[in-house]
Amino acid sequence: MTEMETPPLTPPKRVFIKTYGCQMNVYDSDRMADALAPHGYMPTQDVAEADLVLLNTCHIREKASEKVFSELGRLKELQGERRALGGDMMIGVAGCVAQAEGEEIARRAPVVDLVFGPQAYHRLPDMLARAEGQRHMHPSLKKPVIDTDFPEEDKFAHLPAAKKEVILARGLTAFLTVQEGCDKFCSFCVVPYTRGAEVSRPVSQVLDEARRLVDAGVKEITLLGQNVNAYHGRDAAGRSVGLGELAYLLAEIAGLERLRYTTSHPRDMDEALIAAHRDLPLLMPYLHLPVQSGSDRILKAMNRKHTSAEYLTLIERIKQARPDMALSGDFIVGFPGETDQDFEDTLTIIRETGYASAYSFKYSTRPGTPGANLANQVAEEVKTERLHRLQELVNAQTTAFHASCVGKTLPVLIERVGRMPGQVGGRSPYLQAVHLDGPNELIGAIHEVEIIGTSTNSLVGRLKQAVAA
Ligand code: SAH
Ligand code: SF4
Ligand code: F3S
Repeated sequence: MTEMETPPLTPPKRVFIKTYGCQMNVYDSDRMADALAPHGYMPTQDVAEADLVLLNTCHIREKASEKVFSELGRLKELQGERRALGGDMMIGVAGCVAQAEGEEIARRAPVVDLVFGPQAYHRLPDMLARAEGQRHMHPSLKKPVIDTDFPEEDKFAHLPAAKKEVILARGLTAFLTVQEGCDKFCSFCVVPYTRGAEVSRPVSQVLDEARRLVDAGVKEITLLGQNVNAYHGRDAAGRSVGLGELAYLLAEIAGLERLRYTTSHPRDMDEALIAAHRDLPLLMPYLHLPVQSGSDRILKAMNRKHTSAEYLTLIERIKQARPDMALSGDFIVGFPGETDQDFEDTLTIIRETGYASAYSFKYSTRPGTPGANLANQVAEEVKTERLHRLQELVNAQTTAFHASCVGKTLPVLIERVGRMPGQVGGRSPYLQAVHLDGPNELIGAIHEVEIIGTSTNSLVGRLKQAVAA
């Protein structure tokens, strides 16, 4: 028998996570990193040193999922190089493309070791162990580990919490998913299929996570959900609590200075939530409230279940509660059957609402959604032209909104060093980036800043000297 050798200390393994899509994926990527940390995986920003690469994918539009397959092509080469040198690299696909097309990914890209949907993240260490077990198998016997079930157990209850220093390293602002999935079934949208039915986390779980974030130094929390304002978590007594009431409970956490939430559906903006905007100074006056179209015919075909007039009335009510509310929205141009008049109606609702910012997209046919089967799809060049016109209007509104802030003094949460030496940067209540001259000591708190100018996508400010008491 050979002499026993002391086993070498295993160096930490490295995981590289690439995130596509919405803020919920950003949150999820951090949860995956947290789930892997106790198993010896350290995050890396450098794919070249990764032992494990995870792509956290988005399926919302065609281009989003195509990006994944081209990325997998690049990773295959990297994995090949690694193996030629006697090393290895595991590749996993997570997120909404994995959920929607798990089997197809495994077939189209045999380079993938793991495919798992958003409801399986707490099982990642276990899946990884199974995939590692396959590493030494003959390639013809290897099968990717696929987990795209919607399990019964509460994923959040099984995901470990991040350490204090990890939370703080991620920044002074944090995301907190309170609600997942969607029951609305807008006819263009894949989310109800990729994320499943609407589920809200229990109130105590949300409050605990918020307290942990604030304890670690987080100043601003953005509550996330595909339909965040449909939140209806249970409290300890088993009572259903809406987002408005949840905001009041979060407002009691000492040290939490700012609260935001996204994304909201107009139909779920209830009285309690509007009242919270009136009563709670920490609830920021910036609301992402997508309307998608200004044409009632198209809204109906989209299954949005409200009219353009109802949207405008809602905006009025919100502004009565919080007069300085800045709005943001999403728009789709070229939904099947959209006429020139329908599109003009969309421009009209944009003019009437007045947005601080907005995101706009060409309609993208998603397999499996009702919209995909509709006749009279709109020609690509018509979509391009409409998108261009819409974006011109919205950009002008954004510029006007930024300009309207010049001369005002706004509380700015200073978050980071600026682009230039001697500068710091942060966000206004309206989520605008603000740059100003000032020492790094300003970072970590809210300061009063006079807005003295604008640049392309941000504001330029000057620190107001604190008046001695
Ligand atoms: N739950 C949110 C939206 C989530 S998806 C809501 O109801 O408003 C984010 C945005 O992507 C949508 O608001 C919509 O504008 C856009 N989108 C979704 N599906 C799309 C599709 N098939 N083609 C183009 N844009 C789409
Ligand atoms: Fe998609 Fe509509 Fe649900 Fe939003 S509300 S996630 S657009 S189905
Ligand atoms: Fe994309 Fe899934 Fe978010 S489809 S937009 S990552 S919920």
